[in-house]
Amino acid sequence: TDLAHIRNFSIVAHIDHGKSTLADRLIQYTGAVSEREMKEQLLDAMDIERERGITIKANTVRLEYRAKDGETYVLNLIDTPGHVDFAYEVSRSMRAVEGSLLVVDATQGVEAQTLANVYQAIEADHEIVPVLNKIDLPAADPDRVREQIEDVIGIDASDAIEISAKTGQGIEDVLEAIVHRLPAPRGDRDAPLKAMLVDSWYDPYLGVVVMIRVMDGIIRKGDRILMMQTGAKYTVDKLAVLRPKMTDVAELGPGEIGVLTASIKQVRDTRVGDTITHEKRPCAAPLPGFKPAQPVVFCGLFPVDSNDFEALRDAIEKLALNDASFTYEMESSAALGFGFRCGFLGLLHLEVVRDRLEREFDIELITTAPSVVYHVHMKDGTVRELHNPADMPDPTHIDHIEEPRIKATILVPDEYLGDVLKLCQDRRGIQLDLTYAGNRAMVVYDLPLNEVVFDFYDRLKSVTKGYASFDYQLTGYRADNLVKMQILVNGEPVDALSVMVHRDRAEARGRAMVEKLKELIPRHMFKIPIQAAIGGKVIARETIAALRKDVTAKCYGGDVTRKKKLLEKQKAGKKKMRQFGKVEIPQSAFINALKMD
Ligand code: GTP
Repeated sequence: TDLAHIRNFSIVAHIDHGKSTLADRLIQYTGAVSEREMKEQLLDAMDIERERGITIKANTVRLEYRAKDGETYVLNLIDTPGHVDFAYEVSRSMRAVEGSLLVVDATQGVEAQTLANVYQAIEADHEIVPVLNKIDLPAADPDRVREQIEDVIGIDASDAIEISAKTGQGIEDVLEAIVHRLPAPRGDRDAPLKAMLVDSWYDPYLGVVVMIRVMDGIIRKGDRILMMQTGAKYTVDKLAVLRPKMTDVAELGPGEIGVLTASIKQVRDTRVGDTITHEKRPCAAPLPGFKPAQPVVFCGLFPVDSNDFEALRDAIEKLALNDASFTYEMESSAALGFGFRCGFLGLLHLEVVRDRLEREFDIELITTAPSVVYHVHMKDGTVRELHNPADMPDPTHIDHIEEPRIKATILVPDEYLGDVLKLCQDRRGIQLDLTYAGNRAMVVYDLPLNEVVFDFYDRLKSVTKGYASFDYQLTGYRADNLVKMQILVNGEPVDALSVMVHRDRAEARGRAMVEKLKELIPRHMFKIPIQAAIGGKVIARETIAALRKDVTAKCYGGDVTRKKKLLEKQKAGKKKMRQFGKVEIPQSAFINALKMD
């Protein structure tokens, strides 16, 4: 296809503002898929994605549209992940296209992820077409939202298109805007091949599939290619476009987006953002801005039933085939036995992986407290990366500890502002900015990531009744007074409950944890002390009183079925418990003990 007839774009939106619905409509309108096939939402392929309503893997589709000017255009839509955990993937896919549709729900207005994503689009030099969605709803207020887009984002919204992705109203206007308002890609057919690796995934039939955007030159089936960052060389076995069904093509030229396979063994061998060129005639320099994805949140995953360890290993290896950004290594804990220490891009990524392990592979898991990566500066001048509080070196050899900080942007209706400020303050936040747009406030905070990884988002949602939106980016490391706090149950330290805390917050945190545990651990035949300690010093303590009565004593011996039922119930309850010394701790305690209310 000649460059003048290609348009490449992505859709940026806050979660639930209608990105997937609009994408489906565009596919349907251009006739790439029949009505019947539309029943299922096409772009969100995985179960969990649909359930959670978030797009995890970037997908793309090639559409053909006959515009009102009589010409037929190829429109490549790249579906970008909307969540902050996948910010790097978003920024790469943005660099693969020239324009964005900015979708804003006309009943809701601009939200934190709208901002984060649109800034990425602006940074990638995109032409941006604002689209106001859901105008079929009575609560839609397109004029107010138009004004808000101009005030908050600072782009012209006078030409914003009003649509309903649900009814199909305005879809043709969107297609015309893509053709006439977005620029055509540029590139040189005769230059050496330069293509960006946009995404990759594991397909059970095809192996690793790599999505590429060609910048210059031409790639053909059978070509020997070189990945410039990894240095790996392959032969292209298959070249195709997604319509959205995979359709083979002979070649891809400048401006085009498609997929290739090349007998690549694992997704790990492909790096999003890498530059693909010809082995024989490489391009002069790789595309700028490549960086490997870095896990920022770590936690331990242990099977509830230690017999499931092998099954867990298999499941993790299978998942890793498809997700290069998640890391794992074997770990053993005195209390939990064998498991894995896993690294994730963020909390949501952690939850998605844990859910998939539990549901697709049917393994019950104990998740230890999520921890960020600390930089421990030793007195001998070396620096250690600490992924697990259990590995904390002897404090007498430590000079200081640094923790990761984030810049968080929160948008919230006025009436909840006070609660949001208090929450951020309580989490050691430093206010950077506070502005208003209409009746909503935008606050920017510098916060320790450590205070956010656990339940910050849940708390934010609850204090604002769901009205706040939140987004963040990592800004760097800073030293603070950080210590490791241990929890001792019946005198024994339980590794999986160790956390890193700020010294000033340790007492409050320790007290909250032991109080929670007192409720979460059932009574035993003996007294159980629960303590929080820093080094050898106990800072909080609770005691679970001993249980004397037999649980079945109440049944008077007469009713045998009732007695049996009770015992069975008790047995089932036991399955979800772990033995720590003489004490049994229920699985749920590990997560719940860490929640702060
Ligand atoms: P994520 O994939 O979660 O990021 O969300 P999304 O932005 O893709 O939103 P999605 O398309 O899943 O739409 C969210 C909800 O809004 C769904 O329940 C849609 O049916 C609904 N919706 C989307 N567009 C419209 C519209 O134009 N009008 C109405 N009334 N509802 C819509």
